[in-house]
Amino acid sequence: MARRKKIYEGKAKVLYEGPRPGTIVQYFKDDATAFNAEKKDVIDGKGVLNNRLSEFFMTGLNQIGVPTHFIERINMREQLVRSCEIIPLEVVVRNVAAGSMSKRLGIEEGTQLSRPIVEYYYKDDALGDPLVTEEHIAAFGWASQQDMDDILSLALRVNDFMSGVMLAVGIKLVDFKIEIGRVFEGDFQRLVVADEISPDSCRLWDMETGQKLDKDVFRRDLGNLADAYTEVARRLGVMPKNQGVTKPTLIN
Ligand SMILES: Nc1ncnc2c1ncn2[C@@H]1O[C@H](COP(=O)(O)OP(=O)(O)OP(=O)(O)O)[C@@H](O)[C@H]1O
Ligand SMILES: [Mg+2]
Repeated sequence: MARRKKIYEGKAKVLYEGPRPGTIVQYFKDDATAFNAEKKDVIDGKGVLNNRLSEFFMTGLNQIGVPTHFIERINMREQLVRSCEIIPLEVVVRNVAAGSMSKRLGIEEGTQLSRPIVEYYYKDDALGDPLVTEEHIAAFGWASQQDMDDILSLALRVNDFMSGVMLAVGIKLVDFKIEIGRVFEGDFQRLVVADEISPDSCRLWDMETGQKLDKDVFRRDLGNLADAYTEVARRLGVMPKNQGVTKPTLIN
């Protein structure tokens, strides 16, 4: 990896300078963290799976006209993306009550919502990514009203796409988080779906058994995380045949 300049190392990915201006390389690590990095582990093969799955979802979104930062996958752990200015919000869409919303509002996990709920969290690890309203977002200048209209529309389109893709393979999309980036084209800016879409950032439940196939397996110690993600990849036809992801010799 010495050939590229490292821009940033986060909990799940490393960003390197890309080969062309305006591009960056995302390297997907095997590190898993939860509860604002209080719980940590290394899960063999997780980075390979998330790289593939994020490629799969972002490519599908691009194909239906939902703009994303994704350009191309480079290898098993890396993808080339457009460099963006990330809006400091985690945009969460919920179809079924779970996680922090269930806790906060006392709504039983698994309750189907009558309509998707979109929530915004301020991206700040030191503050624990607090829930914010559009009033905060406007008052502190994190995004304009036009941005918020575009973000809501992107979030709902991603929700419809992801819900359908998952439904087709017997998985319920309970909720997910996306990040939105600004890309500049001359005098214009537009918003694109950035960061990653993977089982790290979604809640995915098997429709028949209710089995969790997402990062809650790690958060709640429910079993082997790589096995759960491999199952999602297998159902979507994403992992090429005979490609073991847990064998260290095949990684990198
Ligand atoms: N296209 C992009 N251009 C610029 N930055 C991006 C792009 N896509 C994702 N990022 C940023 O790259 C980082 C990815 O690293 P990772 O997911 O490991 O971060 P993290 O530990 O979750 O930290 P953070 O709190 O910053 O999200 C995130 O900060 C994310 O916002
Ligand atoms: Mg992240």
